[in-house]
Amino acid sequence: MIADRRPEVVFNCAAYNAVDRAEKEPALARAINAEGPGHVAAACRRHGATLVHFSTNFVFDGADDKPYLEADEPSPISAYGRSKLEGERRVLETGAHVLLVRTAAVFGGPHSFPQRILDRARSGEKLRVVSDQHVNPTYAKDLAAAAVELVEDGMAGIVHAVAEGCTGWDDFARAALKELGVSTPVESVGSAAYASAARRPFNGCLATTRYRPLRPWREALHQWASGLK
Ligand SMILES: NC(=O)c1ccc[n+]([C@@H]2O[C@H](COP(=O)([O-])OP(=O)(O)OC[C@H]3O[C@@H](n4cnc5c(N)ncnc54)[C@H](OP(=O)(O)O)[C@@H]3O)[C@@H](O)[C@H]2O)c1
Repeated sequence: MIADRRPEVVFNCAAYNAVDRAEKEPALARAINAEGPGHVAAACRRHGATLVHFSTNFVFDGADDKPYLEADEPSPISAYGRSKLEGERRVLETGAHVLLVRTAAVFGGPHSFPQRILDRARSGEKLRVVSDQHVNPTYAKDLAAAAVELVEDGMAGIVHAVAEGCTGWDDFARAALKELGVSTPVESVGSAAYASAARRPFNGCLATTRYRPLRPWREALHQWASGLK
């Protein structure tokens, strides 16, 4: 397709992102998150296209007590994180012009976290949400605009693009419900209360030395919620 259409820029958003399932299917996760992007990057190099490839805060182990910067050493603790890190390395080593955007906790789509929380609250479910994993909730629309801006600026290499502010998933859930006037309480629980196949970083917070934070996540969440009313 790249050979036929000769795009100037290719945005690769495809991923195997079933974080828990990846523990049982590491080969499939690796094929989609590492080998696939490597092929796309090679085609981009052959045809002179810029590749924008998305990666994740899950390449870090989350053991540090400050947000992770572009220069920090990745050390993934899950099969998903390892497959994404290998994808990063493969696209970068092709020699293509690559902008590698690491992001986190993306919301905005119909299956994203605040929408699922809202659906569960409306169905009368009791809500228990983890408080000890922290992320920058990042609005997909803001991320998309940032990716375009970074390409237009000719940026290459690894760039962290996340909303300003880092919070627990429990606070993220409460903020989403509040925006929509839903009064369902959210019980905060520790990760230990949740049996999950994959380990997730406690500190999933990103920061950047190469770009700027996207607008604060609560502002972006407000805009997302306004679109639902
Ligand atoms: N969502 C987050 O919180 C988050 C956080 C950090 C980083 N990221 C990164 O952001 C990127 C986009 O994630 P997302 O959450 O937006 O994912 P998404 O909404 O689930 O979209 C992933 C897309 O990949 C496609 N896909 C899956 N396997 C494929 C394959 N073998 N060949 C071609 N396409 C395939 C899926 O197609 P179908 O719909 O047809 O299955 C889907 O359209 C990924 O690189 C992800 O690692 C996401």
